[in-house]
Amino acid sequence: MTTKENEAAALPLASIFPIASDISPAGHLRIGGCDTLALVERYGTPLYVFDEATLRHQARAFLGEFSRRYPDTTVRYAAKAYINGALARLFAEEGLSLDVVSGGELALALANGFRADRIEFHGNNKTPQEMEEALRAGIGRVVLDNYDEIELLEATAARLNVRQAAILRVGPNVDPHTHGHTTTGLLDSKFGLPIPTGQAEEGLRRALAAPHIDLLGIHAHLGSPIFETKPYPQAIAVMADFALAMKQMHGFDCREFSPGGGFAVQYVTDTPAPEPAIYAEAITSALRDAFTGRELPLPHLSIEPGRSLIGRAGVALYTVGSRKEIPDVRTYVSVDGGMADNIRPAIYGSKYEALVAGRPLAAAEETVTIAGKYCESGDVLIRDIALPPLKAGDVLAIPASGAYCLAMASNYNLALGPAVVLVAEGRARLVRRRETYEDLMQRDVFEDGDVIG
Ligand SMILES: Cc1ncc(COP(=O)(O)O)c(C=O)c1O
Repeated sequence: MTTKENEAAALPLASIFPIASDISPAGHLRIGGCDTLALVERYGTPLYVFDEATLRHQARAFLGEFSRRYPDTTVRYAAKAYINGALARLFAEEGLSLDVVSGGELALALANGFRADRIEFHGNNKTPQEMEEALRAGIGRVVLDNYDEIELLEATAARLNVRQAAILRVGPNVDPHTHGHTTTGLLDSKFGLPIPTGQAEEGLRRALAAPHIDLLGIHAHLGSPIFETKPYPQAIAVMADFALAMKQMHGFDCREFSPGGGFAVQYVTDTPAPEPAIYAEAITSALRDAFTGRELPLPHLSIEPGRSLIGRAGVALYTVGSRKEIPDVRTYVSVDGGMADNIRPAIYGSKYEALVAGRPLAAAEETVTIAGKYCESGDVLIRDIALPPLKAGDVLAIPASGAYCLAMASNYNLALGPAVVLVAEGRARLVRRRETYEDLMQRDVFEDGDVIG
């Protein structure tokens, strides 16, 4: 194929790869203006490439689409989807607020420019130490998940002599039709206080009675990824009923309201995800209808997108190694990463697409299974995908790898954490270096041992 033809050709899977993806004059996959083979040459594999244009575009889309319809909106990036210093700075620059679930996420956010009052603290089992760190930092909101946390927050705030703004996480018992492991809004969930059992009311009563807690509103997160919009209005109606009942019974003013996150991204060709505008329309119109219909003042709205802000921006690049053909059964092609950097296929059965970075336009000629290099049979990244013939040394690009891959990465088999680069307009910035053998060993200590007890 000539250079001219390459330039004109559309990138396959364009709606799944980052916005700034195309084909280079050399005929290679290019992201953010950077030739992926050149990135691999420079930084090695596995390599996670994040496209700055997609990150900024998604942040602006959620901010813009929600605040255009409902100006009193905060967009909080759910850091659990994946965060590092550069990403925290980029999202802070874009005007996002943040949702953290651990002392570690909080420390990273504070160290990289997030103001504490723009951060909310989630999680179902915040430790006393984490609660104290959050309050000492001046955290914006604590999301109360259960009775113990109400007690812990009250005790911590009293000791530090502060009155802490908080939100109560409730369980509306609405099914978002996601994988069982990522469904959180149903009755049988470790998260939040269920409305149907009366426990949400009891939690609210306790929080209102706590002198050092300023209970501002209610929150629910249904699950993730939610490809339909319907569960949001369903949950909003249940929560508005609850808000009205709590006003009548306890004089509670619901000034803040969050339907959580869970907005989907497209992973494979046959499951496109709704645009931010579709979620924004469904949520803001349902919220307005639900509150005005019950003669309640409109609350401040807060949403918590995680994967939808970062999923599409990230592409994982791997080098192909060995190949095993089992006649009439399956052909395994192994790459130099796998479940240590992306455990989603193993734990959720998540599906992905892939392209050969050096020849993205080559025709698919065989069906193979892309296996990882780790010592688990379940370490398979993609089962039965049609690809051009692969040989050792080829670079495989897996799109939609930005969310919950590196965030859930491990050192299984003492795998080295991959390098991460941020690309924009032909420039690549290393934002996280590859781990080294020294990194793996640096926390080992060889003490003589102390007498304990
Ligand atoms: C409370 C809460 N908010 C937001 C999110 C983010 O979900 P997603 O990344 O699907 O948007 C999660 C995910 O687990 C969550 O538990």
